[in-house]
Amino acid sequence: MRERLLAAEKVKAIDWRNGVLHLLDQRLLPFEERWCVCESAAAVAEAIRGMLVRGAPAIGISAAYGLVLGARARLAAGGDWQAALEADFQVLADSRPTAVNLFWALNRMRERLQRLKVGDDPLAVLEAEAVAIHDSDREANLTMAQLGVDLIRQHQGNPQPLLTHCNTGALATGGFGTALGVIRAAYLEGLVERVYADETRPWLQGARLTAWELALEGIPVSLNADAAAAHLMKTKGITWVIVGADRITANGDVANKIGTYQLAVNAMHHGVRFMVVAPSSTIDMALESGDDIVIEERDGRELLELAGQRVAADVAAVNPVFDITPADLIDFIVTEKGVVERPDAAKMAQLMCRKRLH
Ligand code: MRU
Repeated sequence: MRERLLAAEKVKAIDWRNGVLHLLDQRLLPFEERWCVCESAAAVAEAIRGMLVRGAPAIGISAAYGLVLGARARLAAGGDWQAALEADFQVLADSRPTAVNLFWALNRMRERLQRLKVGDDPLAVLEAEAVAIHDSDREANLTMAQLGVDLIRQHQGNPQPLLTHCNTGALATGGFGTALGVIRAAYLEGLVERVYADETRPWLQGARLTAWELALEGIPVSLNADAAAAHLMKTKGITWVIVGADRITANGDVANKIGTYQLAVNAMHHGVRFMVVAPSSTIDMALESGDDIVIEERDGRELLELAGQRVAADVAAVNPVFDITPADLIDFIVTEKGVVERPDAAKMAQLMCRKRLH
């Protein structure tokens, strides 16, 4: 499976090359593949805030590289560079609030900094840590793809229609994807008849990114309005809803792209299995439940306008971009440490004690 996934890999969104961060500008897809170069922590923070790069693991990886860029500038400026670097930690942490991978990656960089020994080259150490964060995310996705496929195979042997939401693919991660990684692998194993991709209003991650990634690999995909999901579950024989996550709390509640919660409610009503795929860097054991998660609210213009053109009446808009799916609506959480069925606090605690499976 691993080799077949590696061979099928076509999309990459993050490239650390010659000491600078190259990001594929996701705002322009699918029409233009333009790479932007970030040379400072502030530039990376702006890229995350403006959604040039998006997806929970991808913003964590980018923030880690951003910190390397910050450290290089602070070291060159001399003086107490570690104290000065605090401003870069802050600007990166302030870029988006909901996905915990961002804070997880920054914490890991901070811990590595605290373990520096006399004689270490701080820049080389931080760069190696950021690269390790990036590489281990790709590896985690390969492991989760295998676990997700095993689960699907346990429940069905023939190709079935699946539904997904937002973009959880190579664009959103260090490679392959979380939910989309499972879907890719399931397709290679002959278990996917068609992928129904929610368009994912208002930013259209499904229409612009997921549809593009799947079409590039020749995986049969139909785009649907978010509001069509329940109807499709009822009429198209969908067997699985497979989504990613931005933060999973200690009790198994899941924050993910707005619209995920209503998918889970509808999936339960229609007897469709609901799978969440996320690396352990998305799990926040410090928060008891989804009620504690800060939900990002973005500019109402994302709803009121389409491609810069006003389409709505002259009213206010409310634009929460994530929601919380309660644990009791979830059949499986798939991580690189293993699978949790019908998550609850005890099972999540047990999972987090396990080692990674790769
Ligand atoms: O606002 P976005 O595009 O960053 O939101 C992305 C999502 O909600 C994804 O489903 C989630 O980050 C998982 S990506 C592997």
